[in-house]
Amino acid sequence: MFQTLDDLDARGKRVVVRADLNVPAKDGKVTDTTRIDRSAATIRELAEKGARVIILTHFGRPKGREEKYSQKLLLEPLSKAIGRPVAWADDVTGPDAVAAVNKLKDGDVLLLENVRFHPEEEKNDPAFARQLADLGQAYVNDAFSTAHRAHASTEAIARLIPAYAGRLMQAELEALGKALEHPEKPVAAIVGGAKVSTKLDLLGNLVARVDYLIIGGGMANTFLYAQGKSVGKSLCEKDLADTARSILEKAKAANCHIVLPVDVVVAGEFAEHAPSKVVSVDSVPDDQMILDAGPASAEAIIDRLGGCKTLVWNGPLGAFEIAPFDAATNAVARAAAQRTKEGKLLTVAGGGDTVSALAKAGVEDKFSYVSTAGGAFLEWLEGKELPGVAALNQPASGCGCGHK
Ligand code: 3PG
Repeated sequence: MFQTLDDLDARGKRVVVRADLNVPAKDGKVTDTTRIDRSAATIRELAEKGARVIILTHFGRPKGREEKYSQKLLLEPLSKAIGRPVAWADDVTGPDAVAAVNKLKDGDVLLLENVRFHPEEEKNDPAFARQLADLGQAYVNDAFSTAHRAHASTEAIARLIPAYAGRLMQAELEALGKALEHPEKPVAAIVGGAKVSTKLDLLGNLVARVDYLIIGGGMANTFLYAQGKSVGKSLCEKDLADTARSILEKAKAANCHIVLPVDVVVAGEFAEHAPSKVVSVDSVPDDQMILDAGPASAEAIIDRLGGCKTLVWNGPLGAFEIAPFDAATNAVARAAAQRTKEGKLLTVAGGGDTVSALAKAGVEDKFSYVSTAGGAFLEWLEGKELPGVAALNQPASGCGCGHK
């Protein structure tokens, strides 16, 4: 079990915080501060306790030092989110970084330049991790959304100095634990999105764990096709029909009930204002494509959720970016939010598209927990061990300055 900020006597200590401030940006400006805002609690708490806070993060996927991935644009929104000034250093290692760290006083906060400017980061290079660890006396990982990466700042460093989970990491792990590891039953999972091929491991893991697996989005078409139905011009991975059939069989053996659409919204093309209609899954016209689950399907899902205590959601039920193909996602999201409000359903959602879809339905703050993670949330749903989390559960091997 990992340690948290409650176990860290932070006063006067140099604390290296690995946050995930990899936020969307356009023309040098941050366009969505959610990840910054959600990381603020840990940074603020440490600063208030008198720590000297040194923030490590990545931004984008630079190949070496590429100025367009400089993290300077984070300074202003970060300072606003934590309500105090944030100092800056142009690198994560070397004399400038060390000088900036040495200048810190208790309660100060320093943001370092993009840790991915060093290729050693992604190689989980031990010597580089040692340099990062030497900046501090304690390490706090608050980056659940990067915990699926075994990188120097997420994995190796945690083995070098005493390591703690930040408040956001703690909240993510607690919420996800409640949703899938020790949930109140019955448990439903909604899995949507375009392709079965990207979610095979996830489906395989979920059928063994949940009571109802509700499949939507383009991937439902592959299952309908595997059941012998015609899907017209729809997105469909026909070569995965056998795989889909074996998932259906595995579910049956595990007593997991798979819920597929019974009716669908079809149109000739995926375009705004394209004429659309609702048809049964048994009569999809050859020249039409499925773009959403139909109203009877949405009703059936809502009914099913009525008997459940826990819901995990990853992936929209239709092509939610364009109305009216967002109708099923909106209806089910709003019903789930209502049951959450009534205290009858624990709702946990994650993944980029899912969070956008919930925001579009106006309920992203009405679920029990919405994860900040994309890839890490998926890997967790797949039942994989996340290296950044696993490293927090290991005792540090010692920093050479008397800590552990
Ligand atoms: C994310 O945005 O999912 C995390 O910041 C991880 O980013 P990566 O996929 O570039 O490792």
